[in-house]
Amino acid sequence: MNLPHQPVLYKEIIHALQPKRGGRYVDGTVGSGGHARGILEACAPDGQLLGLDVDPQALALARETLAPYEQRIHLAQASYTTLSAQLKNLRWDSVDGIVLDLGASSMQFDTPERGFSFQNDAPLDMRFGPHAPQTAADIVNTYTERELADLIYEYGEDRDSRKIARAIVNARPLHTTRELVAVIEAVSPRRGDRVHPATKTFQALRIAVNDELASIKKVLPQAVASLKPGGRLAVISFHSLEDRIVKEFFREQSKDLVNPPYEQLYIVERQAIIKEVHRKPITPSEEETKDNPRARSAKLRVAEKL
Ligand SMILES: C[S@@+](CC[C@H](N)C(=O)[O-])C[C@H]1O[C@@H](n2cnc3c(N)ncnc32)[C@H](O)[C@@H]1O
Repeated sequence: MNLPHQPVLYKEIIHALQPKRGGRYVDGTVGSGGHARGILEACAPDGQLLGLDVDPQALALARETLAPYEQRIHLAQASYTTLSAQLKNLRWDSVDGIVLDLGASSMQFDTPERGFSFQNDAPLDMRFGPHAPQTAADIVNTYTERELADLIYEYGEDRDSRKIARAIVNARPLHTTRELVAVIEAVSPRRGDRVHPATKTFQALRIAVNDELASIKKVLPQAVASLKPGGRLAVISFHSLEDRIVKEFFREQSKDLVNPPYEQLYIVERQAIIKEVHRKPITPSEEETKDNPRARSAKLRVAEKL
């Protein structure tokens, strides 16, 4: 199967994980299987991979992409927040590498009826998987004005959050992406920048529908606990809210926790369990962003288990 383009930071992910023969790897966001395919190639002939995704459509694509490696893959429709339980099911005590490529996939953005894109008209859905308890329409039509304003401000970092929330409440019920875009455009006109005024509200709704930030906070400790010494965790994030969580977790876990902090004589209460492989996040090359504008905001952070 031909993927539309290589997954974001493909070479960098393979370089970060350094897959080896006989290794065990997890792709917690397997999507169409692009990164997974690279990992399986690199750990041939006997390395194995567990691929997770909450989206059955993504898993069907992954199954197709990864058909040549059928004997060495395990795919499950499950959230990466259940990582420890998934590994237990496979009787894998620990693994050599884990990749998380957060957010929505190109396939999801480009499937109009999923409701992720404000450029198409579709029902306000935005669920990554069918088990998410609410759709974007549920949120838009049931939250109070205050709750909507807080959500758009916190998860969209949009200064027009109050105006947009008021306009939504006045216009509801809203059922489609086009209806929502029209409401936002009426109160938050384009300001000459390149970003469409609906971008931030759509991001905020998607994060809320899929409980994205809480999910990242849940998976990181499980991922680190599952790695063998020397094993690596590579996380690609696409906006500052995600990246901040990853950055702070890596910083915290790569330092000894000492008490009292600034004395000569101190007790190490908890030792560092990882080290950060790079001081700064890795970002896509100019060549990659030219080819795939969605890669522009990607940041890769890599940690190694001590
Ligand atoms: C950016 S895409 C990954 C693309 C993939 N790296 C590839 O090479 O095709 C992110 C994927 O993560 C999935 N996803 C989002 N939240 C998830 C979660 N909590 N657990 C598992 N998968 C999740 C989405 O459904 C989507 O398919």
